[in-house]
Amino acid sequence: MTQSTIPAIAPSEITSKTVFDQRRRFLKHAGGLSAALMTAPLWAAEKLAFTSTASYGLTDALTPRKDVTHYNNFYEFGTDKEAPSRRAGSLKTRPWTIAVEGEVHKPQVFDIDQLLKLAPIEERVYRLRCVEAWSMVIPWLGYPLAALLKQAQPTGSAKYVEFVSLHDMEQMPGQRSPVLQWPYREGLRLDEAMHPLALLTFGLYGELLPNQNGAPVRMVLPWKYGFKSAKSIVKIRLLKEQPVSSWMQAGPSEYGFYANVNPEVDHPRWSQAKERRIGEFLKRPTLPFNGYAEQVSSLYAGMDLKHYF
Ligand code: MTE
Repeated sequence: MTQSTIPAIAPSEITSKTVFDQRRRFLKHAGGLSAALMTAPLWAAEKLAFTSTASYGLTDALTPRKDVTHYNNFYEFGTDKEAPSRRAGSLKTRPWTIAVEGEVHKPQVFDIDQLLKLAPIEERVYRLRCVEAWSMVIPWLGYPLAALLKQAQPTGSAKYVEFVSLHDMEQMPGQRSPVLQWPYREGLRLDEAMHPLALLTFGLYGELLPNQNGAPVRMVLPWKYGFKSAKSIVKIRLLKEQPVSSWMQAGPSEYGFYANVNPEVDHPRWSQAKERRIGEFLKRPTLPFNGYAEQVSSLYAGMDLKHYF
């Protein structure tokens, strides 16, 4: 991944703290039902109701929806930040299934509409910190991945989870380029995957995911660099051995298996000490585990995180 310049954003597009607070209050009262109407252009709005909102003490302003949906990494549609919003219309998100297989007692194929009803959909306002040293604050909609994994009943030998994204050159023209080995693959340790913050995600800003954000279903892991959050997932495999992700294959010295946000471990080509919040001018310091240390640091007790980067 190369670092690219951040497009200039008009001050009018930046959600002020007041607007953010008003929106949060409104969502609280309206149960989120009108969020899509308030924020989405008419061409995209497919509302997704949710039962609760949590932000884990985060008071930062939301990143404007326009940036969340027009400044993307989704190499299946090209490597420019604007390419996914321009080209992802070719992705067909219905019908869609996710197979859960491998080291499980009950391998199963879940239809997307079945998945949407498996557990209550929650709104989680999470920071997402990209390895390229920019970040956003996004109101995601989903439920813990653990709810899905429990359905498949991992065996005692399951130690890792692998996520596999769709592989289809017709729908994903970026796969004609060998920029990564396709399909896109990511992995987690099973205990990371079962952590309540690990969100199986179906929507953002009160509506179903736009294609460029990984429709119809993706992961969001707020304490890890964004590349761990695989998009447009078709398969989840429970494994005995640690899987090799697409990014590890592409650059093993640059992208590790863990990829926890860590300001003390620089990427070999740039510092990870600071980040630019999309929509802001000045950089802000990057926080260990992206600000979620209290919730997740116990997963890594005793590990040398410089070695296991
Ligand atoms: N998933 C797939 N299948 N393909 C990708 O190229 N890019 C990753 C991640 N998931 C990627 C992916 C990277 S590098 C980031 S930073 C996030 O998606 C970006 O998510 P966003 O565009 O919704 O902000």
